[in-house]
Amino acid sequence: MVPVLRTIVGLFIGGLGARLIGLLGRFHVGPSSGPKKTSRRSFTRNAALGAVGVVLAETAGAFVWFFWPNKTGAFGSDINVAAENIPAIDAPPFRVAEGKFFLVQNEDGLLALYWKCVHLGCTVPWAANENLFHCPCHGSIYNKNGERIAGPAPRPLDLMTVRVGDGGNVTVDTGAISTRSSYQPEQAVPYSA
Ligand code: FES
Repeated sequence: MVPVLRTIVGLFIGGLGARLIGLLGRFHVGPSSGPKKTSRRSFTRNAALGAVGVVLAETAGAFVWFFWPNKTGAFGSDINVAAENIPAIDAPPFRVAEGKFFLVQNEDGLLALYWKCVHLGCTVPWAANENLFHCPCHGSIYNKNGERIAGPAPRPLDLMTVRVGDGGNVTVDTGAISTRSSYQPEQAVPYSA
């Protein structure tokens, strides 16, 4: 809802709330004062408070909606990679931005490499001219299997879980990330399209 429309709705609902409070007040009979009437001042005050309350509630709702994690097809959930996007063994890694990983195929199978540098967390790009992953922050360098070959990184890039489905399509669970101290062939998931 656009802000102006939200404010108008808030004022409208706040006004209705204030009118309702006023009507209830008229029917309320106190012990000594008889039926109460709502003054113009209290009506205006109630309307303003109601409008402010509704606008605040709308704002809070929009805030929660905006920041609530969307677990479908986003980082932290399963990400599908179509068979036609699976890189060949000698091809560069396939970058999947929404999953924050590179999909690599070597002689042993597929690896999904989490692109977060294991040194201090920078995003590590694939440097095509070097045929390596090269972190821009402090110079850590990883080969295509994610093994550290230079720089301050203490271990290889982390791995995400890979599942091969029908027709050669692949699913990467970006919520299942594991660390390792070296590359082992069994880390790769055998693949044939
Ligand atoms: S964050 Fe990558 S080398 Fe420091």
